[in-house]
Amino acid sequence: MAERLGVKKSDLRENEPIKANVAGKDYAIVLHNGSVHALDGLCTHEQGPLFEGSVDNNELICPWHSGAFDIETGKADENTPWVTDTRHYAVEEDESGELLIQI
Ligand code: FES
Repeated sequence: MAERLGVKKSDLRENEPIKANVAGKDYAIVLHNGSVHALDGLCTHEQGPLFEGSVDNNELICPWHSGAFDIETGKADENTPWVTDTRHYAVEEDESGELLIQI
């Protein structure tokens, strides 16, 4: 099911995550290498706010204990074994430029 994120791709800045809330759940939205990605908003470790994380190479880094996730897949970095994989969601742009998440 596609749901509106309430933001446009043009609102995003490369490698600067934002929070989007859809149906009561938070997501981390990241423009990375020109494509928009969505991951679960809360970290798989202790629910840290991934939407406040930072980007390092191809990974989103949790602001609480530095757990690292592949932005394009949600896979946890084996060098930060305290986190497990998180979910990655496809994001599309409609004809008006609004972003839709597939949940
Ligand atoms: S809450 Fe994210 S690494 Fe601990």
